[in-house]
Amino acid sequence: MKNNKLSTDSYKGVRDFFPEDMAIQEYIFETWSHTAESFGFSRYDASVLEPSAIYKAKGAENEEMVNEQTYSFVDRGNREVTLRPEMTPTVARMIAAKRRDLTFPVRWYSIPNLFRYERAQRGRLREHWQLNCDIFGADDYTADIEIIALAYQVLVNFGATEDMFEILVNNRQTMKKAYEMLGITNADTVTAITRLNDRKDKIEPTEYLKSLTEIVNDESLAKEIKKMIESSDPGDSVVVAGLKEMGINNVRIDRSLARGFDYYTGTIFEIKDTNPDNNRSLLGGGRYDNLTAMFGGEAVSGIGFGMGDVTMRDFLETHDLLTSNIPAPTLMIMPLDKKLNLPAQILAKQFRDAGLSVATDMSDKKIGKKLANAGEQFVDFALILGDNEYKNKQYQVKNLTDQTETSGTLDELIEFLTQ
Ligand code: HAM
Repeated sequence: MKNNKLSTDSYKGVRDFFPEDMAIQEYIFETWSHTAESFGFSRYDASVLEPSAIYKAKGAENEEMVNEQTYSFVDRGNREVTLRPEMTPTVARMIAAKRRDLTFPVRWYSIPNLFRYERAQRGRLREHWQLNCDIFGADDYTADIEIIALAYQVLVNFGATEDMFEILVNNRQTMKKAYEMLGITNADTVTAITRLNDRKDKIEPTEYLKSLTEIVNDESLAKEIKKMIESSDPGDSVVVAGLKEMGINNVRIDRSLARGFDYYTGTIFEIKDTNPDNNRSLLGGGRYDNLTAMFGGEAVSGIGFGMGDVTMRDFLETHDLLTSNIPAPTLMIMPLDKKLNLPAQILAKQFRDAGLSVATDMSDKKIGKKLANAGEQFVDFALILGDNEYKNKQYQVKNLTDQTETSGTLDELIEFLTQ
């Protein structure tokens, strides 16, 4: 017979979350949401399905994303549908829909799963989760400072110190002016240079200069552009100065910072791990003043970022900031005989009703093995249920850390375990 068993592998580029992965994921999500809420952000969400049009509309267009990276299909009613590759168009749609009822500035956060048809590699998968924090209806530069300070605080709340990451800031307006000063006014030329800058870290300096020369058709001009891009002069960046005034020191201007999306109009920023093993960005974001306009009506400005769970976990592992926290019950009840399995369940319920977390080990394993397993799973206490305990309603719980034993009735032990 032909062996045609199904593979146990997950779909290419996505992950299964076994309990140990799930525990890490939950820790990441909890730290994300409590930090966002400590800045007064409210949580929202939406469906993973979006009409494809919102990624193609003027203002949101991003050729690489739409043409090469989305999971798109036509549904049974002939509608073009896309699995959301990012959250920003969705949140812009939701803000535009409720614009009249909202009191600005609005601070919203979400932890969506996003789908991008990418070549799977370290830090890049086909499904990832992303903390999205955005402020709408605040044009002042201090909103830019607040959103970057929030991103910084997320990392600090994971136990990170300033030497572990770096905040890079740039500004699309400043870049436009800098190009104008060099005589480059054509928008397509600026876009071409910006896209090249986006790849600057990944190519050789000579190749960068060669491509730049091809774009502007002038070698000395290309050299001048390169010099400007490589200058670390913060100029009049009030955002960088303000962050430093707040006590955030690992921030600098990076004129080569481009960001892949065309919708950004002002400040743009990324945070990078200082460990070269993780050269991908931990997060990226920026100001986008016109995105809601594609849904009609007056535009509401936005500033925000997305922080991915894949690079976040790599960061925490690289800097040794993860502690295992797989949830384990406080008490494991171990029946000595099969016929005591049901009484064990009933006893477990009575402990649970008092607020304890309790499980039973109804396997056929020897009691020594059951105790060893419970210890490995970080269970705190064990209760061995034999005929005598069952009959006399007097039990003994064993502390699996220091091996001490405590005897008593159900009520006495509840009191002991909950104190
Ligand atoms: P983005 O730079 O495409 O921005 O993604 C932000 C972050 O999400 C990245 O820095 C990375 O941590 C993570 N990420 C992106 N793609 C993948 C992937 N394929 N696998 C794993 N992680 C990934 C945006 O998406 C913007 N919409 C963010 C934003 C919000 N801008 C303003 N508000």
